[in-house]
Amino acid sequence: MNQKYLFPSNQTEHDRLLRLNEVYNPYTFQYLNKLIQPGMNVLEYGPGIGMIGKWLVSSFPDIGYTALDISEEQLNAVKTNFIDAKLNPPKTIRGSIANVNMLLNSETSYDIIYGRWVLAYLPNKDDVISTVSQLTSFLKPGGYLVIEEGDVTPCQAISLKNDGTSHNNITAFNNWYELTMKLQTPCKIDMSLGSTIANKLANSHKLHQAPYAYQPHLTTEYEKAILALAIPGSRKRLIELGLTTISESKQLETNLWNLAQDDSIHIEFIKNTIVTIQKELAHGS
Ligand SMILES: C[S@@+](CC[C@H](N)C(=O)[O-])C[C@H]1O[C@@H](n2cnc3c(N)ncnc32)[C@H](O)[C@@H]1O
Repeated sequence: MNQKYLFPSNQTEHDRLLRLNEVYNPYTFQYLNKLIQPGMNVLEYGPGIGMIGKWLVSSFPDIGYTALDISEEQLNAVKTNFIDAKLNPPKTIRGSIANVNMLLNSETSYDIIYGRWVLAYLPNKDDVISTVSQLTSFLKPGGYLVIEEGDVTPCQAISLKNDGTSHNNITAFNNWYELTMKLQTPCKIDMSLGSTIANKLANSHKLHQAPYAYQPHLTTEYEKAILALAIPGSRKRLIELGLTTISESKQLETNLWNLAQDDSIHIEFIKNTIVTIQKELAHGS
């Protein structure tokens, strides 16, 4: 199975993830904060650079936290991030979430299993629902699986100028959007996995689901830089896939940095859907 992930684990990617975290973490923290209790055992799959884990362990020092990721470099980044914050390095497990049954110990169960922007990258879309089912089998009774996945499709650039002038920088956004959408087929990425998952689970899953929560549509200064940073990170794959050339992608990157500096244009960015499944409490509890 092709387990190649689109982005590398390098400094540019870490900068991109850092900005994504700055944009999205406040709402994620607020959401998780309602579920977490002291002493809980938490598994995070696809933790990236570990910003959520760092927040969890700093806010709830007696919590058990395990990070599972396909990339050794990302797991190292998580450990470094913890050590820099003077936290003990977390337990880590390396492997694909699609094989979670083989990676986790059946003797260990979790109060909360959380992941953001990970299932969208599973190469086989049939794996998404079976992975969700497998993950729920590692929950304690009453435990929560919290899946946060994006819907890129509502992204749009909004001109704040109403003077009728043309906006070259909106063209840069449109080019980014077109390229992103073209990735869906060859990389088998579902750019609206948040709502796809919510719809699929609504029809197929027997476990109790909380009402969906949605990250509010955010417009912050970081979002435009995130678009620009995604280009050098994914350039190698984009060229391999024949979706762009070096010169085209460099031009797009420059245009996106111009867009990032243009205060007259707002971006409405990825809207995340947060799907929460609670495992049934055991009878008599
Ligand atoms: C877009 S990043 C999201 C990182 C983090 N969840 C966040 O919100 O900042 C995707 C993460 O999932 C990991 N990943 C990708 N495919 C995976 C898979 N099949 N199994 C486990 N981790 C995976 C990547 O290495 C990366 O750390």
